[in-house]
Amino acid sequence: MSTILVTGASGFLGEALVRRLAHAHRVVGAGFQHARDALDLREPAQVRCLLDAAQPDVAIHAAAYRDPDFCEAHPEEAARLNVEPVRAMAAALPPAARLVLVSTDYVFDGEAPPYREDRERRPASVYGRTKAAAEDLALARANSLVVRIPLLIGIEPAHRGPSGFVLQIARQVLDGKPAEADDVLVRFPTWTEDVVAAVEFLLERSAAGVFHVSAPRGATRYRWTLEVARLLGRNADHLVPLRAPVPRPARRPVNSQLSTEKLRFAGFDRFTDFAAVARQILARASDLGDGALQRIP
Ligand SMILES: NC(=O)c1ccc[n+]([C@@H]2O[C@H](COP(=O)([O-])OP(=O)(O)OC[C@H]3O[C@@H](n4cnc5c(N)ncnc54)[C@H](OP(=O)(O)O)[C@@H]3O)[C@@H](O)[C@H]2O)c1
Repeated sequence: MSTILVTGASGFLGEALVRRLAHAHRVVGAGFQHARDALDLREPAQVRCLLDAAQPDVAIHAAAYRDPDFCEAHPEEAARLNVEPVRAMAAALPPAARLVLVSTDYVFDGEAPPYREDRERRPASVYGRTKAAAEDLALARANSLVVRIPLLIGIEPAHRGPSGFVLQIARQVLDGKPAEADDVLVRFPTWTEDVVAAVEFLLERSAAGVFHVSAPRGATRYRWTLEVARLLGRNADHLVPLRAPVPRPARRPVNSQLSTEKLRFAGFDRFTDFAAVARQILARASDLGDGALQRIP
């Protein structure tokens, strides 16, 4: 049994990591505003205290500012959480301990997909640049693991209430009000449970270096909306495909599809289809109304 430290343990992915890894390991979860013992990882001294107290064999850094527009507006603040704790961990962890960084497809500009792990990174946003810098710090240490993931779907932490990509688009479908939906940016929604299974798989095999973890099916938000509308037994005629990129502060990659050939070759290829995950999320959401839920096949 190893001791595994998970930062961002009160977040979407961190919570799922803690739940799964706790079956076989001693897990120490660290959160901030939604955790009982709040730790501010923007303070290097607190990072060092956490490592001293937990004495982890493996430290997984999943805490981050993950809103690209926030990072674009606050680059220094973004680096304080997305980069600096990795520097502090890399320096303070004993050589035998392993560092695992959760990274993102936003390290690529999305102009020439699919992306293998060894492709040159060209982040087009502050968020992507902070994650690329964190990757460099992690990979400078022997045996570090960097796991790049795309848009996550799943059951968000309870403190956020029913939220996330699937429920956002479900509400747009059920709302019936005319609206535009992006039909340019291709996204690969991936179930949090599949990501944690892949991380566990890689840890069990002491995998090191960079691995991409992504569901294989990509589509634009508009296309995913049509799929959710079908699941809800509704039409989406009130939604108009928007064929020009929506202007936002941070540039998004048009299609940053992560090739998972390396992961498949290592022996992991278990990705749950979007429809199966969406059905579960819709069935659990309490705020969609009984009529909507009954229509889910
Ligand atoms: N979600 C996605 O679609 C997605 C896609 C690609 C990559 N990623 C990456 O996956 C990782 C996990 O993302 P997520 O979606 O789980 O993020 P999240 O739900 O936004 O969770 C962020 C976590 O960071 C913690 N945190 C925030 N400020 C902190 C601080 N100053 N000190 C310590 N902890 C702090 C939060 O704690 P409190 O809530 O307690 O304040 C929370 O536990 C991130 O590295 C992200 O970049 C996510």
